[in-house]
Amino acid sequence: MAWVISTAEPADVQRMYEIEQASFRTPWSYELLKAEFSHTQARIRVVHQRDPWGKKAEQLVGFSISWIVADELQILQVAVDPDFRRNGIGRRLLRDVIEIAKMEGAPNLYLEVRASNKAAIALYHSCQFTEVGLRKKYYKSPTEDAVIFVLKLEEHPLHLRR
Ligand SMILES: CC(C)(COP(=O)(O)OP(=O)(O)OC[C@H]1O[C@@H](n2cnc3c(N)ncnc32)[C@H](O)[C@@H]1OP(=O)(O)O)[C@@H](O)C(=O)NCCC(=O)NCCS
Repeated sequence: MAWVISTAEPADVQRMYEIEQASFRTPWSYELLKAEFSHTQARIRVVHQRDPWGKKAEQLVGFSISWIVADELQILQVAVDPDFRRNGIGRRLLRDVIEIAKMEGAPNLYLEVRASNKAAIALYHSCQFTEVGLRKKYYKSPTEDAVIFVLKLEEHPLHLRR
């Protein structure tokens, strides 16, 4: 199987919503996900599983939502269908977001993540994001700190070249 990344279309919202619900303790609503498509600063990307023999229907297995604000890219959501995790899809989505940041002249990428989210924190470290701070009790249900991560592309020449 191959993974193909592309810009999301409004028809993708239902699958994004299903993955969202399976991925987060306080998932975004269907309406909130749909509303992202009307924000000019939003960059919504989806990964499809593609059968190289064309025998199976393509399936949406992950997505990312980022915002470009001035010269920064803020990653709001990254999620992969639980049945497809640990296949490198999360890393592919992050690399794709890094490419978008480069193309759009946003050399600094930021994100926040629950302090207990070991999988996501390991993923961000593996893509050379670094922890720069903590927002105390930022998340609700349950209350939890947010870890702030940043990737400054100028400090990572490999990301700049790729
Ligand atoms: C975090 C998430 C997006 C990772 O997606 P994924 O496709 O499974 O990640 P990848 O297979 O690309 O993993 C890349 C690296 O991240 C780390 N990683 C990913 N999942 C991990 C886990 N469960 N435990 C430890 N490390 C993990 C590893 O370093 C991994 O590299 P390796 O497989 O070579 O060891 C996925 O677990 C998910 O959707 N979680 C729920 C939603 C979420 O928490 N999103 C992030 C906050 S916005």
